[in-house]
Amino acid sequence: MDVEKVLHMTGGIGSTSYAKNSSLQKKGSDRVKHIIIETLKEVYVSSTPKSFGIADLGCSCGPNTLSIIRDMFEAIQKIISLKMKYQPACCELRVYLNDLPTNDFNSIFRAFPDFRRSLWHNDDTKSESSSPSIFMGAYPGSFYGRLFPNSSLHFVHSSYSLHWLSRVPPELYDEEGKSINKGCVYICGSSPEKVAQAYYKQFRQDFCKFLRARLEEVVVGGRMVLIFLGRKGPQHVDRGNSFLWEILTRAFAILVSKGEVEGEKVDSYEVPFYAASREEIEEAVRREGSFQVERFVVSISETDQDAEGGISRGKRVAMAVRAVQESIITNHFGDSLQLDSLFDTYASLLDQQFAMQEIQPLTFVLVLRKL
Ligand SMILES: C[S@@+](CC[C@H](N)C(=O)[O-])C[C@H]1O[C@@H](n2cnc3c(N)ncnc32)[C@H](O)[C@@H]1O
Repeated sequence: MDVEKVLHMTGGIGSTSYAKNSSLQKKGSDRVKHIIIETLKEVYVSSTPKSFGIADLGCSCGPNTLSIIRDMFEAIQKIISLKMKYQPACCELRVYLNDLPTNDFNSIFRAFPDFRRSLWHNDDTKSESSSPSIFMGAYPGSFYGRLFPNSSLHFVHSSYSLHWLSRVPPELYDEEGKSINKGCVYICGSSPEKVAQAYYKQFRQDFCKFLRARLEEVVVGGRMVLIFLGRKGPQHVDRGNSFLWEILTRAFAILVSKGEVEGEKVDSYEVPFYAASREEIEEAVRREGSFQVERFVVSISETDQDAEGGISRGKRVAMAVRAVQESIITNHFGDSLQLDSLFDTYASLLDQQFAMQEIQPLTFVLVLRKL
């Protein structure tokens, strides 16, 4: 599977779209928003450049994309309005929205005009003349390579994107192209040791490429706030992110037993995902050497306990996973796989698990400073 060409969140605004099923990511990001805004303010105040470059890597589509840009704009606007008491100071914000090429950028473009207007019209005390100008554009491509001009960025934000690898690790397949991780879609209890090693190797390569590309693009003293899924310690298998994959594996097995999908097809399906540990991330940053870890915060992702609007917790998580996974599942299995059947089964398995014990995926917030 060519991840760069295939992976995208389900576009549009339909019931299975990412726009309608990204509240878990929104809640996760809101829980750590103070870190994003504090860091942004620090960089802005310490540099006050005339032209301030911000990138959002893996911006996707839907309400989360522009919501965080609004928060950043308002934070800088506040600083500028305080400064203006003493001197007329204004600047321009360059906002670069990045995602893979098949992302539904059109839905973001359509929202641009109203979004720009609303930045000034929500509050009577704000006027266009006392506000920074804002220029936004989309930069399609993989964040594992170069995307922006040299030294063009002061602040980089990325939310719930960096746990996606650039590819499924090739070592997961033997010489005949058969998976060595049969019966699992990610590292699971029965995976041979080589599976975790292959995933870790891919993560190390990708993360190093990510840092090397940003090294050229971020100014000295610039910061990156990277929010992504991770794991607690050296063990890969826990009741966090890996458990969500294990339940998806069980849902696939039920479909196989009903003859709805071929077992061989499931055996060869592996996700291009990795939940790194704090130690692995810190080690990768140290080894690469151009950024310094300024802050590392661990946040527990929680879904609301109760059914919301008659939708159970399991169903909400299943819909969120579907909006993220649909493109790569369809690419692998073809249109004959009934996604409704898979994700209904997944939802009911999740509800059974939630009733027994909590599932707690970990979110990491990593603040890096360019040296
Ligand atoms: C779960 S969405 C998160 C979207 C948004 N930041 C949010 O918080 O709601 C993850 C996004 O990362 C993007 N992504 C994954 N790998 C990427 C890569 N190598 N380069 C750019 N974007 C990538 C996906 O296409 C997807 O839109």
